[in-house]
Amino acid sequence: MPHVNASKNFVLPKDEAAVIPVDQVKVNSVTDFSIYINKDGQYDLFSAPGYKWHNHNLEQLVKDGHGALFYHTADSAKVDQYLKISQLPSIDPSLPPTQRVLQITDVGAELTKMLYDSPLTGASIAKGEEIAGHMVTCLSEDNTCVVALGKLANHHWYTYYHSARVASYAIAIAIEMGMTNKEQLEELAVGCLFHDIGKSKITLEILNKNGPLTNDEWGMIRRHPELGDEVVHESHLTSVSRDIILHHHERLDGAGYPHKLGAAEIIQEVRIASFADTFDALTTNRPYQPSRSRFEALDLIRHRFLEQLDKECYKMMVMILQRVAKNP
Ligand SMILES: [Fe+2]
Ligand SMILES: [Fe+2]
Repeated sequence: MPHVNASKNFVLPKDEAAVIPVDQVKVNSVTDFSIYINKDGQYDLFSAPGYKWHNHNLEQLVKDGHGALFYHTADSAKVDQYLKISQLPSIDPSLPPTQRVLQITDVGAELTKMLYDSPLTGASIAKGEEIAGHMVTCLSEDNTCVVALGKLANHHWYTYYHSARVASYAIAIAIEMGMTNKEQLEELAVGCLFHDIGKSKITLEILNKNGPLTNDEWGMIRRHPELGDEVVHESHLTSVSRDIILHHHERLDGAGYPHKLGAAEIIQEVRIASFADTFDALTTNRPYQPSRSRFEALDLIRHRFLEQLDKECYKMMVMILQRVAKNP
């Protein structure tokens, strides 16, 4: 049975129809374009944009002989991106957390790269939410597995891996704080995965520049939280996830940007994201700085940034790392 508003009025003209094989549509994915099925030679609407696919829908279509689905040729760019996203490897839940967190980070990096290469679509947000879900499950099993995360030396992939690592660190800290609500954790993870999406509007020459940036280039980079807010404006991301995108560079002493918020205005999830963001930046190789060990990074945070970053987050990260040091 057609699922969304199917009616004789929603018919796709034959010369504007293109095929998408049903086996290219993945369970839990979201098609952000209309899908039509061939019914007695006519292409009738099956699902509207934003439709989430469940196993039984796909099985029913196959059973009813619909091996081919159809879309409007005007949606080709969205379909291309949907197909790229569905080809990303799936996460293997049987892997131990230290290996699974790496697999999740790889897929997160691939997704982030796509976000930089093409516009944000419903399908990419749905994939981000799926990755966030895996991250929460994995880190709930063992939040010390974040120590397995690598330090990426390749500048061009730094930007892509960074967001996925920030999300993992943030969830590990939140769990250490005692946050158990799955929805809350997923909002945090999604916000972190997308936190630097505004950088997709900045050229890679500036992002990956070797050597110091000019004032103008810094000015451009400092606009990324607001650019990110614009990018996700039309999406269904929750207010917490959006708050992370817009405010992850705010600082508790009011010295951050873009709004110079004070401690009272910075919510806990944003504080966690800011801490994780700084921690990852300090512990990875970047164009303009070599990496530090995690303990060196914590030492630097304690001496230089503890007025700006959340002290609780600092304590939680120390506790996680100490636990690993005691039980390597
Ligand atoms: Fe940022
Ligand atoms: Fe960042």
